[in-house]
Amino acid sequence: MINVYFLLKINRYIKSVRIKNLGIFFLHLLGKRYIGIFLDPVYACNLRCRMCYFSDDEKRKALSHGRFKQEDLPRLADAFFYRALKLQIGCGAEPSLFPYNMELIRLGKEKKVPYISMTTNANLYQEKEWRKLIAAGLDEITLSLHGVTKQTYEYFMTGASYEAFHSSLRILSDLKKEYPGFKLRINYTVNKDNLQELSSFFEIFGNYRFEVLQIRPIQQLGNTAYNDFSWNAIYAHYDSVIGKLKAECFRNQITFIAPSKYDLIKTENPDSTLTDSTYIYISPRTCWQEDFDLQKDTYNSYAKRHHLGRKLLAKVFQKGKSAVETKKNLNYDIN
Ligand SMILES: C[S@@+](CC[C@H](N)C(=O)[O-])C[C@H]1O[C@@H](n2cnc3c(N)ncnc32)[C@H](O)[C@@H]1O
Ligand code: SF4
Repeated sequence: MINVYFLLKINRYIKSVRIKNLGIFFLHLLGKRYIGIFLDPVYACNLRCRMCYFSDDEKRKALSHGRFKQEDLPRLADAFFYRALKLQIGCGAEPSLFPYNMELIRLGKEKKVPYISMTTNANLYQEKEWRKLIAAGLDEITLSLHGVTKQTYEYFMTGASYEAFHSSLRILSDLKKEYPGFKLRINYTVNKDNLQELSSFFEIFGNYRFEVLQIRPIQQLGNTAYNDFSWNAIYAHYDSVIGKLKAECFRNQITFIAPSKYDLIKTENPDSTLTDSTYIYISPRTCWQEDFDLQKDTYNSYAKRHHLGRKLLAKVFQKGKSAVETKKNLNYDIN
């Protein structure tokens, strides 16, 4: 298993986007792995979190259909997995609704994908399901959290059960004794109304055994039930809350990931150009590019047809503004 957090740290350490683009170009040319596959095997969710588009009835109706058939998965794996550094199951919808995650992980392992992770609200799985996924070789499980207290959690994650979340954390912490290799991560999506209670995060979650905590500032994801997307509103208390969490994580040897206060006001992220070259999004509704034909294409055949190598090389020589695209993703500090 690769240490993705170490790779992310190196990425933060190398400041030159040109050097990073050159690296990607060579990895592409030499047929090596460099893409991250972000896969929503099913496009639906059991919850209606207030910060998420699944809280918008119209959007929910439009989105909630389609899932991969079991027989589609080998083709998907043949087309992409051999170039993948990472397979992320669950990106914009809820992966625990998909009945064939075991098959996906099996294919990922068969194709030697170095890192397979899943992001989930953790409300549907119980010990039997968690155990199967970990035994199959899932390298990382990220649990999403929108509140530290029961009241805030169940308010923001409409339809979720605080007890079910704790139960999953307890089961996963226990499974670590048997399977010490897999990483457990908590993602906390922060807004102005759930920021301050992060101060008591370790009082409530400190006894669980997780390795990574990520703080993820709210982003505007459409016409959602909760709609205060202003980072200005979290700015005032950000450093004191984040500083305390960071120190606690350091004490407990937990990797802490959060944007700095400065990153919240920056309007550019130089690494956006790298994301464009390495990020492959796949769902039952879209497969990477509009003209990618899953029945015939592979990553390589498509790349050849579209002269991807030439395009990646051109990125190395891009100058000025075009090389520093407007911010799409936040810069996260990894401690
Ligand atoms: C859309 S969810 C899909 C995966 C899965 N259903 C889950 O919640 O973990 C992916 C991540 O986005 C986060 N998220 C939800 N609404 C958000 C928002 N408005 N801004 C930033 N992140 C958000 C979730 O907490 C979760 O960690
Ligand atoms: S954040 Fe995840 S769990 Fe919550 S509604 Fe969106 S997709 Fe579902």
